[in-house]
Amino acid sequence: PVNLKGRNFVTLKDFTPEEIQYLLDLSKDLKAKKRTGSKEKALDGKNVVLLFQKSSTRTRCAFEVAALDEGAHVTFLGSSDSQMGKKESLEDTAKVLGRFYDGMEFRGFKQETVDILAKHAGIPVWNGLTDLYHPTQILADLLTISEHVDKPLNKVKFAFLGDARNNMGNSLMIGAAKMGMDFRAVAPKELFPGEELVGEMKELAKETGGKITITDDVAEGVKDADVIYTDVWVSMGEEDQFEERIKLLKDYQVNMDMVRKAGNDNLIFMHCLPAFHDLETDVGKEIHEKFGLKEMEVTDEVFRSKHSVVFDEAENRMHTIKAVMVATMG
Ligand code: CP
Ligand code: NVA
Repeated sequence: PVNLKGRNFVTLKDFTPEEIQYLLDLSKDLKAKKRTGSKEKALDGKNVVLLFQKSSTRTRCAFEVAALDEGAHVTFLGSSDSQMGKKESLEDTAKVLGRFYDGMEFRGFKQETVDILAKHAGIPVWNGLTDLYHPTQILADLLTISEHVDKPLNKVKFAFLGDARNNMGNSLMIGAAKMGMDFRAVAPKELFPGEELVGEMKELAKETGGKITITDDVAEGVKDADVIYTDVWVSMGEEDQFEERIKLLKDYQVNMDMVRKAGNDNLIFMHCLPAFHDLETDVGKEIHEKFGLKEMEVTDEVFRSKHSVVFDEAENRMHTIKAVMVATMG
């Protein structure tokens, strides 16, 4: 039987396929429980601290709502709200917060930071996004696929388009390899995932029955796909790279032509969000003015099409994050 009590959740690499499946099953149960309006609380009296060095809508709110649903209390600390990393070392901060709280979330620039917090806090530490990984997002994605694709995960063909070496590209490849999926990273060579991680995931895929393909050929990459997934071309903290990324990635935009190329009318479109599919944001308008682009990683047409499951996916952030907290801290 799976028992995750006391465990950190900083990368999916640390979890077996059985443990990941356990978290997905628990997420389904907690989602069903919420639908019934049950007031049963698995985290009654627990205290949770959320540390954010970068902005967030979904992750922060998912942690807050999930904690409160289960009876836990939350403290949110934004980038300028604590002494961490400025007057006080990460190690000391982790040790102090570990005395007050029962669980800690961190979102920020470096994976190393969440690893140091996890080493010293003495309580479960959860990664809410770093430069390398975004593991809570992957749980929501796997849950969403299992709800919308009528096949077991190890039969799913999954294509990731875009910056395949960012936190999403890396952690989707890990999640896919763990669950035995047919994973394709479809990107220009400059944005292929790191060779070391690819090698590691290819080895793992041999054990799980999965397949890892890295290609710059869109037609090959999306052929027969059940899922087409993309993410922003420029991640938080890389805003100086818009021009270069647009040049590299313009042929990897998810549009209806690509969806047709895949040749599967039932395919689903996924995106971790936030997405640049129109210009109705400040940054979107700036990009339009500067580069003349109307849409970036996905067209508005695909984003709003019958294929798109992005808001189910966003909702699942909450149910899966709840499962992570209940499993490790409950
Ligand atoms: N997908 C995701 O992590 O969104 P936020 O940046 O809004 O948390
Ligand atoms: N790759 C994106 C993911 C946002 C959820 C970023 O890091 O900004």
